[in-house]
Amino acid sequence: MEIALSEMSTQLQNLAKKSILDLQPYQPGLNAKDVGIDKELIKLASNENPIGVSQKAIEAIKSSLENIYRYPPDRPFSLREKIAKRCGVNPQNIILGNGSDEIIELIIKAFLNPGEEVILSEPDFLIYKLAAKAAGAKIVCVSVKNFRTDLKRIKLAINNKTKLIFISNPNNPLGSYLNQGEIEDFLKDIPENVVIIFDQAYIEFVQADDYPRMLEFLDKQNLILLRTFSKFYGLAGLRIGYGISNPQFIDYLNRVRLPFNVNYLAQQAAAAVLDDETFLNQTKEVVSEGKEYICNSLNKLNFFYINSATNFVTIDVQQDGREFCRRMLAYGIIVRNLKPYKLNNFVRLTIGKKEENERFIKALLEIKNG
Ligand SMILES: Cc1ncc(COP(=O)(O)O)c(C=O)c1O
Repeated sequence: MEIALSEMSTQLQNLAKKSILDLQPYQPGLNAKDVGIDKELIKLASNENPIGVSQKAIEAIKSSLENIYRYPPDRPFSLREKIAKRCGVNPQNIILGNGSDEIIELIIKAFLNPGEEVILSEPDFLIYKLAAKAAGAKIVCVSVKNFRTDLKRIKLAINNKTKLIFISNPNNPLGSYLNQGEIEDFLKDIPENVVIIFDQAYIEFVQADDYPRMLEFLDKQNLILLRTFSKFYGLAGLRIGYGISNPQFIDYLNRVRLPFNVNYLAQQAAAAVLDDETFLNQTKEVVSEGKEYICNSLNKLNFFYINSATNFVTIDVQQDGREFCRRMLAYGIIVRNLKPYKLNNFVRLTIGKKEENERFIKALLEIKNG
C-alpha cells in the first residue's frame, strides 16, 4: 500500500537513501482480488501461461510438502544440471534466482560501482530501471525506433563510465525481437569493461529462425542471459528464474546472493515441468493459435498492433490506455495499461485460452462501437 505524499514525514525521509526518494513501487498487473468486481474475471495482463500449471509440477509439489521443514538445497545441482542440459551449457553456467527479477538485482549488486552508468532501452522491462536507480546508478535511456530496440544508438551511448546494458529480447512491453545479425553486429567491439545482459524471458515462445539463442557468445563476451519459469513454464507464483553466464560471473553473483533464495517447492516444480513435454507442447500450441486469432481479429477491426514474438500483443487501442483498461474491466477482463511505459494509447494483452481471447475481441468491438 502506498502512502500519500502529504502523509510523508521529512524527518523520516532524511533517513532513506537519496537514490530511492523519487522511485515509485513497481505496479504489477491487477489481480482478480484487486478489482472488487463479482464477474468471473479473465486476467490477461502479466504474460502468464494460458493453460495454467503442469500436472507433473503439481504432483511434484504435493509429494515434496513434507520436506519443507528443511532448508532447500542452496545451489541445487540436479536442477541446474537439468536446465543446463536443456540449454546446451554446463551447470557451472547457471545461477537460480527467486524469479529472474532477483538476478537483475544480483547483477547490479555484484557489478555496479558508484559513479558507473547503466544503459537501458526505452521502453523496456521496468525492473531494470527501478533496481539500477535504487542502487544510485546514473541511467542512460535510448528510445526504441519503430518499436524495436535501437542497438546502434545503444552502442553510441557507451562511454567510459558505462558498466551495464540491460536489453530484453524479445522486448517486454513491445513484443518485438532483435535478430541474429543485429546482435552479432552489436556485440562486435563492445568495450571489455561493459557487461551486457540479454533478458530472454519469452525465448520459448519465439518461432522465428533468426532469433538469437545467444549461447555461442557466452565464451567471447561479458554476457549474462536471463530466463524464467514464470511465463512459458507456468510457475509465476513460485518465483523461480535463472541466469546463464561464464562460471566466473556466476561465482560473483553467488557471492552477493542470500542463501536458500529459491524455495524447495519451486525447485521441485521446475524440475518436473521441464519433463512435461505434453504440457509444454500444448502451451506452445494454445499461444500460437491464440496469437493468430487475436492478430487476425485486430487486422479485421483495423487496430494497429506491434508484431510480437511472445505470448502477448501490444495494441494501439485508439484512446487513452488507462481509460480503455477501465472499460475492459467492466467486461471482466484485465489487460495491461502501458502508461507507465509512456505508451499512452497502447495496452498489452496476454494471449489467453481460446474463449478468453474471444471474449476480449468481443469486448474490444463493443468498446470501439461506443
Ligand atoms: C522481460 C522480463 N524479464 C523478467 C521478468 C520477471 O520474471 P520473473 O517472474 O522470473 O521475475 C519479466 C516478467 O514480466 C519480464 O517480462
